Amino acid sequence: MREIKLTTKIAVYPIAECSEMEKKLIEAAKEATKKAYAPYSGFKVGAAVLLENGEIIAGNNQENAAYPSGLCAERVTIFFANATYPDQRIEAIAVAAYHNGGFTDDVITPCGGCRQVLLETENRFNRAIKILLYGNESVYKFESAKDLLPFSFGDKMLK
Ligand code: THU
Repeated sequence: MREIKLTTKIAVYPIAECSEMEKKLIEAAKEATKKAYAPYSGFKVGAAVLLENGEIIAGNNQENAAYPSGLCAERVTIFFANATYPDQRIEAIAVAAYHNGGFTDDVITPCGGCRQVLLETENRFNRAIKILLYGNESVYKFESAKDLLPFSFGDKMLK
């Protein structure tokens, strides 16, 4: 028997230590929570992506009475960005959540489906995407979707 141990790297720092661009992206994600459609969970998530041309695109979760038909903020935002600018690489994404009258103290962590879509987007554009997860207490930064989804399934397996 042999064991495989997977490790991942996350930079944790207060918002004050973010670069100006990181602050701007996080602010756009926070702002986007205000337009979320989350009547069932009351959990409003905002995401903002930075394109290589410098443009920021924001989106939020869209729920549905038939629950599985809704979609997370990350996927709404990434799909909209890719649908609008299919040739623009996504360089970074920020995610924030508003719940019970305030932004969450803990960082919001993307679900498995969104991690898979982040990974696909990285592979599609052959560029690692920086992932900034916001919480009132700190910001978590991942250098790549691979750090959020180790041991993942990807296009190479289909070849
Ligand atoms: N949600 C997101 O939009 N992103 C996440 O990273 C986690 C969860 C949404 C889905 C649903 O509308 C609500 O939050 C509660 O799960």
